[in-house]
Amino acid sequence: MTRKLAIAIDGPAAAGKSTVAKKVAEQLSYIYIDTGAMYRAITLKALHHEVDLNQEEALEQLLKQTSIELVQESDGQHVKLDELDVTKDIRTHEVTSSVSYVAKHPKVRKEMVARQQKLVEQRGVVMDGRDIGTHVIPDAEVKIFMIASVRERAERRHKENIENGFSSDLNELMEEIRKRDEIDSQRETAPLVKAADAIEVDTTSLSIEEVVGRIIHIVEQAGR
Ligand code: CDP
Ligand code: CDP
Repeated sequence: MTRKLAIAIDGPAAAGKSTVAKKVAEQLSYIYIDTGAMYRAITLKALHHEVDLNQEEALEQLLKQTSIELVQESDGQHVKLDELDVTKDIRTHEVTSSVSYVAKHPKVRKEMVARQQKLVEQRGVVMDGRDIGTHVIPDAEVKIFMIASVRERAERRHKENIENGFSSDLNELMEEIRKRDEIDSQRETAPLVKAADAIEVDTTSLSIEEVVGRIIHIVEQAGR
């Protein structure tokens, strides 16, 4: 298979999108773009600057003055916010519980989508997020909508937290995931929704390798 494609992976929080997207990109020698990291980075800056997260214009202004880069390093992808490495800082509970309030503003999304579309001017890309198949790359050759039960998603995050030495409460995680899914799915602009031409992959009882295998198979079919 030589033809390079664009692969859009959308779905709710902690469905396994980024883990799987990274592996698919590695196997195909494609570029991986984590759009959630971009929304998390501007949220981190807004929190530092104490910008009211309800103030759409203030957030838009802040974003326009902000550089967000995804840089490939030997140990994986790093996120640079105004040239500062914030890879770890964007994963805190404070950012996670605030990001959907920033991401729901149409003017913030407009600027983000424009930046993301510049990153996919060439094919050979795997991009994950909430609106990739519907808005960022509507003509992607492969669209995946990845889901898993709330309980399974919370358990995965719980395990991940414990492995990384963070404190973690399963019930709180379920609540946080439910809340974020609700805001992301109900916002007016580019809500989290399965694109009409997306293939749904339920990962609830699948291993990472099984999900990667399924997606590679779908890509091979599409690339013929
Ligand atoms: O990895 P996780 O599922 O926790 O979330 P993420 O992909 O890092 O995205 C964080 C948040 O950014 C989401 O809950 C959405 O509010 C927002 N987001 C979005 O609105 N559109 C995207 N394309 C990507 C993320
Ligand atoms: O990007 P997203 O928020 O959708 O999820 P993720 O951060 O890639 O995955 C959340 C956690 O689930 C990670 O710890 C993955 O290793 C794990 N995972 C899993 O156990 N089984 C899968 N089929 C996919 C992900």
